[in-house]
Amino acid sequence: MSLQTSVQSDRNPWLDIPATEYQAHMQSPDVAQSGVLAELFGIALRAAQPASILLLGCGTGNGLQLVDDQVTKSVTCIDINPAYLSELATRLPAPGHDRSLIEMDLNTGALPPGPFDLVHAPFVFEFLDWRPLVPKVAAVLAPGGLFTVVIQRESRTVAARTPTPYFTLRRLDALFNYVDPLDLGAVAIDSGLTLAAQRDVMLPRQKSFTLLTFNRV
Ligand SMILES: C[S@@+](CC[C@H](N)C(=O)[O-])C[C@H]1O[C@@H](n2cnc3c(N)ncnc32)[C@H](O)[C@@H]1O
Repeated sequence: MSLQTSVQSDRNPWLDIPATEYQAHMQSPDVAQSGVLAELFGIALRAAQPASILLLGCGTGNGLQLVDDQVTKSVTCIDINPAYLSELATRLPAPGHDRSLIEMDLNTGALPPGPFDLVHAPFVFEFLDWRPLVPKVAAVLAPGGLFTVVIQRESRTVAARTPTPYFTLRRLDALFNYVDPLDLGAVAIDSGLTLAAQRDVMLPRQKSFTLLTFNRV
């Protein structure tokens, strides 16, 4: 008798990372990415002054507490992991703006039609096929709207993922690909967008993030 095991090789590893482990990893002092990602979202919010926001790869809602309800009337959040969306809803109940939480794989799903004044993609392009997504984002941006992307910069000296005790995060290593900012800029320009700003922020252990801001004229 042979033993057959079913291997779901196409299952996205993000679905198997518990929210508690993901948050603990991102907040650990050696990683310190949560705080910086929230700060960069704050910069995007101040630049865009958006009435409507589309947040791609929202996770458990890092930075959403910075949304100003005097300015922003609707926020649409997308993530592949339904447990993260539930956690977001529990952590930030009853926002003072309309909020939609959408469980969707950004590799395959259609974006909500918008138009959005700000589309923000914080540290998510490294985990998906971002090239086909950029023109889809451009299509749902309002005229004058901003598309802001946070990417982790490639380092020749340190590993992409800083080791922490949260072992489930190892599952992401096979999925991770650095995003070349020049490459992203070229695809954005082909999609009708213009690079408006670039800001680099250092992280612990010689790592850094870059916030790229594109606008739709
Ligand atoms: C590195 S985390 C960043 C989370 C959050 N933006 C933050 O600031 O902490 C990447 C997020 O993107 C989501 N994600 C990864 N691949 C995705 C996909 N194909 N479609 C939708 N969401 C995805 C993950 O579930 C996770 O919440």
